[in-house]
Amino acid sequence: MRFDVVTIFPGMLEPVLAASLLGKARERGLIDIQVHDLRRWADPPHRKVDDYAYGGGPGMLMKPEPIVRAVEELRTVDAWTVLLSPQAPPLTQPAVRCLAGREHLILVCGRYEGVDDRVRDLVIDEEVSIGDYVVAGGEVPALVLIEATSRLIPGVVGCEDSVRDESHAAGLLEHPQFTRPEDFRGRRVPPTLLSGDHGRVADWRRAHALRRTLDRRPDLLSERDLTDTQRRQLADFDLDRPEGARPHSCAPASNGDAEALP
Ligand SMILES: C[S@@+](CC[C@H](N)C(=O)[O-])C[C@H]1O[C@@H](n2cnc3c(N)ncnc32)[C@H](O)[C@@H]1O
Repeated sequence: MRFDVVTIFPGMLEPVLAASLLGKARERGLIDIQVHDLRRWADPPHRKVDDYAYGGGPGMLMKPEPIVRAVEELRTVDAWTVLLSPQAPPLTQPAVRCLAGREHLILVCGRYEGVDDRVRDLVIDEEVSIGDYVVAGGEVPALVLIEATSRLIPGVVGCEDSVRDESHAAGLLEHPQFTRPEDFRGRRVPPTLLSGDHGRVADWRRAHALRRTLDRRPDLLSERDLTDTQRRQLADFDLDRPEGARPHSCAPASNGDAEALP
């Protein structure tokens, strides 16, 4: 799989792309990632990539010409061009899976107040957001997208089972996990996991994955009704560890704040 990233801060990405899982996958030729400085496609002598917004307002916008030229030059027949943007629905694991099935992704990173809107019509196939909040540029979102999709490419993650069984892979969160020591500050590992009985361990994990999902992300289950087996698992299995998500430190935003806006 090939990624081309277009950015005005190429230096932000290289250290991350050279490290750990992604660095190894690149060395082994499983993924090809090229980072391009957008200014290469900007007009000399100043290579300006931003300008004031028509109609006024704070900050600068990214000009359309360099981005469109960059995508037109990098595009291959298999290319799918993604604009990192807070204005898309937040990225999900099924969407990541779909993107991981593509041969060639061109990722366009915005900065400042964003990009001239005509770029969307002219060269963008899809917009991707990493969540309903705003960061300063598309570089970190691009890294998130590259790491999430690369993990699904066969051979990138050493143990394929870990990708198959993890949170969001099948619409559930992963069950709780423990390593040594068996007793840490008075908190003991659930006895079932020490039993050596693979069947019971598998049942425990399935039941706790369901329980954890219901407790923390019931929205994930509302879309897919529980099967009879899952209902039985939840009812029958002795859930030997109390569940409890750590809530966000800030109270959920009340609609009152939004209504106060003009
Ligand atoms: C400061 S943001 C611009 C936000 C824009 N003024 C708006 O209100 O939609 C600059 C750039 O950061 C990137 N960005 C910011 N938040 C993002 C998010 N949640 N997901 C993906 N990209 C994001 C986009 O590339 C965006 O063009």
